Amino acid sequence: MATKFININLKIWRQKNANAKGSLESYKLDKVSTDSSFLEMLDQLNEQLINEQKESIAFDHDCREGICGMCSLYINGRAHGPDTGTTTCQLHMRKFNDGDTIYVEPWRSRAFPIIKDLVVDRSAFDRIQQAGGFVSVNTSGRTMDANAIPIPKADADKAFEAAACIGCGACVATCKNGSALLFVGAKVSQYALLPQGKVEAQERVVNMVRQMDEEGFGNCTNTGACEIECPKGISLENIARMNREFLFAAAKSE
Ligand code: SF4
Ligand code: FES
Repeated sequence: MATKFININLKIWRQKNANAKGSLESYKLDKVSTDSSFLEMLDQLNEQLINEQKESIAFDHDCREGICGMCSLYINGRAHGPDTGTTTCQLHMRKFNDGDTIYVEPWRSRAFPIIKDLVVDRSAFDRIQQAGGFVSVNTSGRTMDANAIPIPKADADKAFEAAACIGCGACVATCKNGSALLFVGAKVSQYALLPQGKVEAQERVVNMVRQMDEEGFGNCTNTGACEIECPKGISLENIARMNREFLFAAAKSE
């Protein structure tokens, strides 16, 4: 596909700090290559702002290849923009047309407070994972062969699919209740499906759910929006598995 250049209008959320009142600011950006990624387009805008002696726009990013989960942007009313199975950093400007107006906002969730402009604090996810604790591996004093524990292929595949969650928070941002169940379901499932994860399974699910509740995430009402907007295709099946694990753990502790 031949490279094209487009001129776009942007409405971007600007907010000085966590306590300031934010608002959408308008920008015009010309000669944007359709081969550039969405984040490269924001880089180009920031260069323009710096050249105009204006403050650049704060936005989160790290790997820029769909792995780290940092690029948490709401684009034209959708988490990670118009493409399915795509993080913001993998979204390309060829998805937009010359003359388009693009709205860019941060994740909106009580549990993800805005730090500045488009950057939100997602450390609640880190605390949930930390609450999950460790995985016991009995090596009996020797290095264990990686294939010593037979695992059914179907379970290994499901665990791997759950482990594909990058902790981006799109599921929370897109949920009308701000629920984190898809994320927590994935993090519980990636261990619960494997023999190595079964030793602390009950403790893990109870502690992760408790931490999730303490962080102020909302309840799940099964709208399924999280699954649709998840860039890694994490399935609702993981929520069902987490619920089963939780009920089992609760019943055992009685
Ligand atoms: S479940 Fe999907 S949307 Fe939610 S944090 Fe994981 S990768 Fe992101
Ligand atoms: S910057 Fe790492 S997933 Fe987008």
